[in-house]
Amino acid sequence: MRTAKDFFTPLAVGAPTPLREIPARPSRAIHFFDPGNEKMAAKIPAMVGTTDVLLGNLEDAVKAENKEKARNGLVKIGQETDFGPTQFWTRINSLDSPWVLDDLTTLVPAIGDKLDVIMVPKVQGAEDIHYIDRILAQLEAKAGITKPLQVHAILETARGVANIEEICAASPRMQGLSLGPADLAADRRMKTTRVGGPHPGYLVRGDAPRTDDGGFAYDAERATYQQDLYHYTIARMVDACVMHGIFPYWGPFGDIKDTVACEDQFRNAFLLGCVGAWSLHPVQIKIANRVFAPSIEDVTHARRVIAAMGDGTGAVMIDGKMEDDASVKQCKVQVELAEQLAA
Ligand code: GLV
Ligand code: MG
Repeated sequence: MRTAKDFFTPLAVGAPTPLREIPARPSRAIHFFDPGNEKMAAKIPAMVGTTDVLLGNLEDAVKAENKEKARNGLVKIGQETDFGPTQFWTRINSLDSPWVLDDLTTLVPAIGDKLDVIMVPKVQGAEDIHYIDRILAQLEAKAGITKPLQVHAILETARGVANIEEICAASPRMQGLSLGPADLAADRRMKTTRVGGPHPGYLVRGDAPRTDDGGFAYDAERATYQQDLYHYTIARMVDACVMHGIFPYWGPFGDIKDTVACEDQFRNAFLLGCVGAWSLHPVQIKIANRVFAPSIEDVTHARRVIAAMGDGTGAVMIDGKMEDDASVKQCKVQVELAEQLAA
C-alpha cells in the first residue's frame, strides 16, 4: 500500500508548493458523456486525443431507469477503446443512492485496469472517501489490478466544504476536487436555478458621481458589476488542494450556447489556481484547452523576468515594474505549466 509520502516530491527551498506528481498528465477538459446514449457512445473513439479526459457519467443527468444501461455501456466502451494519451474517468453514483455499489463491483473487475480516476459526487467528509478506498482496495486485489485507481471528490454540499481539509487528506488515492456549483447552490439554499455562471441580481453598483460638496449624486443608472457567486468556494478549494498536493477543478457550465460566459467562468478558475474544468459539449473542450494554458505573451514575459533575475534573488525593474524573488516564483508556475502542456 502506498502512503501519502509516496506521492510527494521534496520541496526545494524557496520553490512554490508543487502539486502532487501523480498524475502529471494534463486534465484541462474533463469531457462528460452518457455511456448509455448509443449515439454519444459511438463518437467516443473519435474523441480520443481531442480532450485530456473522457468521463463516462453514471450519476445525475442519467435517468434512474437508464442507470444499468449507462453502466453496461461504460464497460463496453472501456473494453473496446484504446484511450491512448487521453485519461479515462467515470463519475459513479453518490453514496446515498441505490446504484453505487453495483457501479463499483461491476466497473472495477471489468475495466478497472483501463480507468484512471473515479469521481465521487456529493462527498460529505473523510468517511465517504475511506469507504470508497476500502471497497476499491478489495475489488482491485480480487481482480489483480496493480495500478491503484485514483479518487476525485466533487465539492457540492455545505458539509463537504466545511470538511474540505479532511477530504483532501483522506486517502493517497485522492487526485483532486471539483466544485459542483449546481448541487452546492441547492444544498446551501442559494436562490439560483442555473448550472454554474452568474446571477443578474448578485452585483455591486459602482459609485455615483461626486457632487461639488464631496457627496454622491443620486444616479439610478450607474454601472453595475455582476459578482462571482462561487469565488469564495473556488479559493477555499484551491488552498486546500495545494496544501494537500492534489488538483482543483471548476465543474460544469450549463449554458452551452453562452461560450463567452463559459470562457469567463473557466478563466476565473484558471487565474485563481484551478487546473481544468468539466466539458458538457465538445465546444467547451476547445474553451478549456485554450483557457487552462498560459498565453504565449504571459510565458514570454515570465521567461524574461526569470532571465533578468539571474540567481532568482534581489530585484530588477522591467517595464517600470519591480520584480523580485516572489515574481520569479509566479513566473515559474506559468513556464512550468506551459512546458508540461507542451511535453
Ligand atoms: C455538478 O455535479 C453540480 O452539481 O454542479
Ligand atoms: Mg452535482
